[in-house]
Amino acid sequence: MANQVDALYIYLLVVAGFMTALIFLTILVLAIKYRRVHGREAQQIEGSLILEITWSVIPFFVMLTFFIWGAVIYFRERTPPADATEVYVVAKQWMWKIEHAEGQSEINELHVPIGQNTKLIMTSQDVIHSFFVPAFRIKQDVLPGRYTTAWFKATKPGHYHLFCAEYCGTMHSGMGGDIVVMEPQEYAQWMAGTAVAPLRETGKQLFSALGCATCHRFDVQGRGPNLVGVYNKPVLLEDGRTVIADENYVRESILNPTAKIVNGFKPVMPTFQGLVSEEQLNALVAYVKSLAQPPPGTAGLQSQPATFPAQTEKMQVQ
Ligand code: CUA
Repeated sequence: MANQVDALYIYLLVVAGFMTALIFLTILVLAIKYRRVHGREAQQIEGSLILEITWSVIPFFVMLTFFIWGAVIYFRERTPPADATEVYVVAKQWMWKIEHAEGQSEINELHVPIGQNTKLIMTSQDVIHSFFVPAFRIKQDVLPGRYTTAWFKATKPGHYHLFCAEYCGTMHSGMGGDIVVMEPQEYAQWMAGTAVAPLRETGKQLFSALGCATCHRFDVQGRGPNLVGVYNKPVLLEDGRTVIADENYVRESILNPTAKIVNGFKPVMPTFQGLVSEEQLNALVAYVKSLAQPPPGTAGLQSQPATFPAQTEKMQVQ
């Protein structure tokens, strides 16, 4: 994104510089041309509508180009590509904890290969922090109690500074790190260096260890919604609203289950607030996301869309 952001910035400087030069040059020329001359008298000039409109409308359209160009870049920066590799970031006073989908975790360092679209799913364990990589032109606040996202695609190998850009306490200025961008084969070696369980596998174990699987079943309709295929799909709620089951929805459903009750279900799920760490929460979210595609062996059983269990119940009553 850096080239695009810089191009817009240079364009802004050039236009602003040109306008400034134009205004000052005009003042200078007019000041000389109409300077006080003995025997010349001032005369009243009536306004010109055409002139007024011209110098209002032309600058207006020039300014609009800033807005349109800026909005286009903004939307690109806010929209991670669908094929992006997901990385979870947990900020705390005063460090960055990084978890890769394949299970590798690191502190104050994020290793990525060249050319990979990387989506960051970030949250904070305490206060507000901000994930700032100047070289990538990305800065995103990291908030407690919810996920925020950012994405980048690194194009040159090297180490790039990571800063915390939100004052977060005594050691705020020391809360930095490195984005380490590697050649793909180098990165593959780095990944293979540690044998760990992928995040979704950790989540799967937690899912059964915490007893989630007793209500959220994959074979029959349990007391909780079947979670297969739910992720990123619309969910009809008890109050008639429809929401998208994104990362923040899954997170909220674990920590504050009664906030959004799925249509046809009762608010019987206990809260897991305080029982799971941010890392465990990320693993659970990664697991629920991995269920977007039915796991082998359950596909045939998933005849009703999991998002509308009310239909299933009514059909059972009939
Ligand atoms: Cu974290 Cu400033």
